[in-house]
Amino acid sequence: MTDLIPELRTPVAPEGTGRVRSGMPVSRVDGRAKVTGSAQYAAEYQAPDLCYGVVVSGTVAKGRIKQIDTSAALAAPGVIEVITHENRPKMRSNDLAWKDMTAPSGSPFRPLFSDQVFYSGQPIALVIGETFEAARHAAALVTATYDVEQHDTNMLDNLDKAYKPRPLKAGFTPPSSKGDAEKAYDAAPVKIESEFYHGVEHHNPMEMFASTVVYGEKGHLTIYDKNQSSQNCRWYVSHAFGLSKDKVTVRNPYVGGAFGSGLRPQYQLPLAVMAALHLKRSVRVVLTRQQMFSFGHRPETWQVVKLAAGEDGKLQAIWHEAIHETSRLEDYVEVVVNWSGQMYACDHIKLGYKVVGQDRYSPIDMRAPGAAHGVHALEVAMDEMAYKLKMDPLEFRLKNYAEVNPLDDKPYSTKELRQCYQLGAERFGWKDRPLEPRSMRDGDELIGWGMATGMWDSLVMVARVSAVLHADGRLVVSSAASDIGTGTYTAMSIIAAESLGLPLERVTFQLGDSTLPLAPIEGGSSHVATVGSGVHGACEKLKTSLLKLAQSQKDSIFKGAKLKDVEFNDGTLHLRGQPGNGVQLAGLLREAGKDRIEEKFLMTPQMLKQRKYVRAVHSAVFCEVRVNEKLGMVRVTRVVDAVAAGRIINAKTAASQIVGGVVWGISQALHEETFTDHRLGRFMNHNYAEYHVAVNADIHDIEVIFADEDDRVVSKQLGAKGVGEIGIVGTAAAVANAIFHATGKRLRSTPITPDKILLGDREVPLAERS
Ligand code: MOS
Repeated sequence: MTDLIPELRTPVAPEGTGRVRSGMPVSRVDGRAKVTGSAQYAAEYQAPDLCYGVVVSGTVAKGRIKQIDTSAALAAPGVIEVITHENRPKMRSNDLAWKDMTAPSGSPFRPLFSDQVFYSGQPIALVIGETFEAARHAAALVTATYDVEQHDTNMLDNLDKAYKPRPLKAGFTPPSSKGDAEKAYDAAPVKIESEFYHGVEHHNPMEMFASTVVYGEKGHLTIYDKNQSSQNCRWYVSHAFGLSKDKVTVRNPYVGGAFGSGLRPQYQLPLAVMAALHLKRSVRVVLTRQQMFSFGHRPETWQVVKLAAGEDGKLQAIWHEAIHETSRLEDYVEVVVNWSGQMYACDHIKLGYKVVGQDRYSPIDMRAPGAAHGVHALEVAMDEMAYKLKMDPLEFRLKNYAEVNPLDDKPYSTKELRQCYQLGAERFGWKDRPLEPRSMRDGDELIGWGMATGMWDSLVMVARVSAVLHADGRLVVSSAASDIGTGTYTAMSIIAAESLGLPLERVTFQLGDSTLPLAPIEGGSSHVATVGSGVHGACEKLKTSLLKLAQSQKDSIFKGAKLKDVEFNDGTLHLRGQPGNGVQLAGLLREAGKDRIEEKFLMTPQMLKQRKYVRAVHSAVFCEVRVNEKLGMVRVTRVVDAVAAGRIINAKTAASQIVGGVVWGISQALHEETFTDHRLGRFMNHNYAEYHVAVNADIHDIEVIFADEDDRVVSKQLGAKGVGEIGIVGTAAAVANAIFHATGKRLRSTPITPDKILLGDREVPLAERS
C-alpha cells in the first residue's frame, strides 16, 4: 500500500525532525543516505548477468576512420563484444530523432553512427566484457587508422568568421539594442574600451557520467543514468532507438553533481543502450575522468565592453559584444551579453553576439551559462569606469541603478538589489575602503577590496505533481524532478509538510523516475519555483478534498467551513484556533473506507502576467583578496554575497547553493581553464591534477545574506525565485576588481594565474596563450 518505487531509495527526514516552516534552515533529508552510502548512484546499481562497457576514445580531431582493428580486443579473455560504427545495432539517422529536449539547433552528435570524426576524444568503439577489468584491458588493444583532415580549434584566430547563431533555443532571446550607442559613445566625455578573454572550462562533477541499463522482461530497459532529467533521457533513448515509451524507464534518484553537464544526455547513455539491445543483456558504461572532458564544456569566449559616462557619473552608453565557440554540428547559444541590457539605467545600449564553428564537441550550459562570463566582463568594465570617474565602485552602481529594465522600460517583478548593496556593504565594512589601489598592505601581502553586481533569470516551467495521503498518515508527493545535490528532496518536502501541517518525517518527496508525473529538466535555477509551486498546488487541493471528506461525515463540526476556517496540524484537521476540536486525517480516510486519497496539480507559469515584467534574481558580491606580489599568489580571504531571490524555502540548502556558487566563482577567477594543444586539437589538462579547481585550502570566509523579497509574479504559490546559479554570477568580477584594488593591475582574462599577477595580461598575448 505504497506509491513508493523501492529501487529509488527515496530519503525521508529522520524521526523527530518535527514541524518545519519555509524559510527555516533545514538539514537535507537525503543527508544521511548520502553519507552512509545507502544512496545509490548510476554506476552502483546491480543486475543479474551485468556486463561492462568501456569506451575507446579517438585520437584525431577531424577526419574519417579508415580502419578500426578490434581483433586483439575480441581475442582478449573475458571480452564479449566490441561495438563500432561498422557493427552497431540499428539506430535512427535523422537529426530530429537525436534531439533531446534541450538541444540547440543543428545536428546532434550520434556516437558510433559513422566513420566521421568531429572532435578529438570522440568515442570510436565500446568494448564489452564480463568484468570491468577485462573490458578496460581490451579497450587498450583497439587500434584505429584515420584519413585525417585539417582541423581548427583556435577560436581567437577565427573571430572574423563569427556568425549569428541559427534560431535560438526556447527561453533564450537574441540580444536587442536601444538608442544609438555608437554615437553616444563617441560624444561622451569619459569612456573605456576593454577586451576580455575566458578559456574553456569543464564542469567536473564528482560523479562520472554513467549508465546502468537493466535488460528486463520483454526487453524493457530500466536505465540508471546520471542526468538532470530522467524524462529528457527517456525521450532521447526512445527516439534515437525507436523504442516505445513504455519500453524504457530512466531513473536518476541521486546525482553526484552536474552543474548543467547533465542537461543533455551524454554519450555513455546511447552506448550502453546500444550494447544492451545488441547483447539482450544488462550493461553498465562509466566514463573515466579523462573522458569527462570529451563532451560539453563552457565555451571559450571573447568579449569587448565599451562604456561611456558623463562627468556626473551617469552612464551614457553600454556597448557589449561577445563571440564564443561552438561545434561544427550545433549552434550552441548562451547569449553572453543580454544581462548588460538589464542591469544599469542607460539610454544607449548596443549588444552583439556571435559564435564561431570549431572542431570540438558542442559546448553545453554550465552554471549560469552566459552570465558567468558576460556579467564578469560588464562588472570589471564597470569597476574600470568607476576608477576613471574617481568614484567609489558601489556609489557608481547606485548612481546608475535601474528602476525599470533599461532596454524596454518594463518593470521588474521584484528587485531588491538596493537592499543587497546595503546589507552586503554594511556586513563587509565597505565604507572603510580607501579608493586608491595599493593602499592596504600586511607584510608581503597587498590587500584589496572589490565588489560586483550579479543577475540571473528567474525561469518557471511546467510541472505536474501528485500528492497522496495514505491511511497510515504518510504523505507521498511525486514528480519526475531531479536533485543534483541542490536540495530538491528537502525543499519539496518542506513545502508539502508546511502545507499539510505534518512533521517533516511524515512526508516523502519522490523524484528521479521518468514514469512519475511530468517535470522539467533541473536547470536554469527553476526547480523550486516550478516543481515547488506544483507541490504546493497539489497539497492545497488535497486539503480541500480532506475538508470535503470531513464535511461528509455525519454531524460534522466542519459543515459550512472553508479552508481558511480550518487548520491542518500534526495529522489532524481542526477548526482554526481550536486544536482540541478536530479529527485525525488517517481516521478520516479509514472511516471513508479509503486507503489513500490523491490529488494532482498541473503547475503552469502565469504567462500573461509574467510577460509584463522582467524577472530576475540579483546579488551584490563583496570580497577581500590578499595578493603576494612577489609570488603572484592570490588568496580570497573574505566574501559577502547578498542575494535577492524571492522567498527562500530552505535557508540552509539555499545558502549552501550560494556558497557553492561563490566557491566556483573564486575558482573561475583564479584556477579554471582547459587548455588546447591546437596542433592536435585536443584538451591537454583533462584530469584533476592539471585542471585546477578551488580546494578547501583556497576557500576562507564566505557569508551569505538573503534580502527580503517575495515575488508573486514568478511564483504565485510560493513567492520564490531560484538560487542555483546566482552565486557564481559576479563573484569572479568581484575577485578581479579586488585584485586591481590590491595591486593596481587590471586583469581581464580568467583565470588570474600568478604569471598574470607578475607580468600582467598584456605580457601574455591572448592569441598565443590559448
Ligand atoms: Mo544549470 S547550467 O541550468 O544546470
